[in-house]
Amino acid sequence: MKDFYPYITNDGSVGLYSKEFDDIYHSTYGAYAEAWEKFVLPADLDFYFKNYKEINVLDICYGIGYNTKSLVQKYYNDTIHSDNIKLNIKAVDTDKELMFLSPFFTCCAKRKPKDENLPTEKVKHLSSDKIEKQYEYDNFINLILIEKLAQKFPDFLTKDFLKKEYSAFFDKMSVNLYKNRIADTPLRAFSTFLHNIYYLNISTRYKKALKALKIGAFDIDYACDDARKVIKEDNKIYQLIFLDAFTPVKCPCLWSVDFFKLLYQRLDDNGRILTYSNSAQVRNAFQAAGFHVGKIFNERAGKYTGTIAVKNSSFIYYPLSEYDLSLMKTRAGIFYRDENLNALNEAIIERHKIEVENSPLISSSKFIKEYRKEHQNV
Ligand SMILES: C[S@@+](CC[C@H](N)C(=O)[O-])C[C@H]1O[C@@H](n2cnc3c(N)ncnc32)[C@H](O)[C@@H]1O
Repeated sequence: MKDFYPYITNDGSVGLYSKEFDDIYHSTYGAYAEAWEKFVLPADLDFYFKNYKEINVLDICYGIGYNTKSLVQKYYNDTIHSDNIKLNIKAVDTDKELMFLSPFFTCCAKRKPKDENLPTEKVKHLSSDKIEKQYEYDNFINLILIEKLAQKFPDFLTKDFLKKEYSAFFDKMSVNLYKNRIADTPLRAFSTFLHNIYYLNISTRYKKALKALKIGAFDIDYACDDARKVIKEDNKIYQLIFLDAFTPVKCPCLWSVDFFKLLYQRLDDNGRILTYSNSAQVRNAFQAAGFHVGKIFNERAGKYTGTIAVKNSSFIYYPLSEYDLSLMKTRAGIFYRDENLNALNEAIIERHKIEVENSPLISSSKFIKEYRKEHQNV
């Protein structure tokens, strides 16, 4: 197990801190709330439910799966009475361990685990004192993920990764289901096998439950590799793409203009790419790759909390301001390059550094100073 430290974020969902990267995977604002507010709500799913029979979604940087989970929750909430909309999610991440852990983390805990469960001072500091649950979460979503992971990865059910020291952060229901799935004697394995055949194929009770939950209409395909490689080899067209990579300086390979050009080829004409990043270079790279670019406005927080890139300009509800566009023309707007989509992050950063140093463009700090002088209120 890597050095992940779990903590409870402000909405009760579990966030992770990585000692290796000395960085958090989820904001203390609320890991699950962020998934809703930065990805699922701005995705305008109603449009796709109305106009498409099948919706393909690419979740780049699946991690422990909050974006996928909130999307599935929204799908079940909104389409439970209609039989004809299929949802296909492709979840991509380099980290198989996180993928395997994804169904076990609890979402929206009622109580905060005791402080002694938190391993370091740094994580204690991250952990929230007050939990404000914002979005409902149905436990069965975790159970579905267990099913999907078990189908995709034969080694999923043989792993012993439910470490004791994290147990306070785990969803007990999914842990129990997982444990019951591991048959510990050949006789028990055989009886479980027979039971599953009966339950999955014959029992009307199961069939009714399946219909109620519409499990048949939902599919998730896990790909555990570098997102550049997975997407290059996959020629499906996606209606929605969620981009939740680490910040550009930590993971430049997933923010380069060349990666965005690849995403352009994979996006439906009425598709949307959503990301939490507000950075000038990310927006400039999207534009240079051919997209129309806008902002995501978070009503609850009352501020802009991300970027949307589309082919259909009528999907831009919050256009970039004159300030945003001017900032993109400074050195802050110089984007990463990775023509062959296989460069190392360090090489991409080095190349970018040289390009910035040699650029004739004005620096962002100088631009901001001059802009403030000109527009006193900004
Ligand atoms: C900010 S976290 C994503 C959090 C996630 N969306 C969730 O709900 O938990 C970033 C993720 O990017 C993954 N990652 C880093 N480099 C990658 C790459 N080249 N291709 C695919 N995934 C990558 C990391 O393993 C990590 O899980």
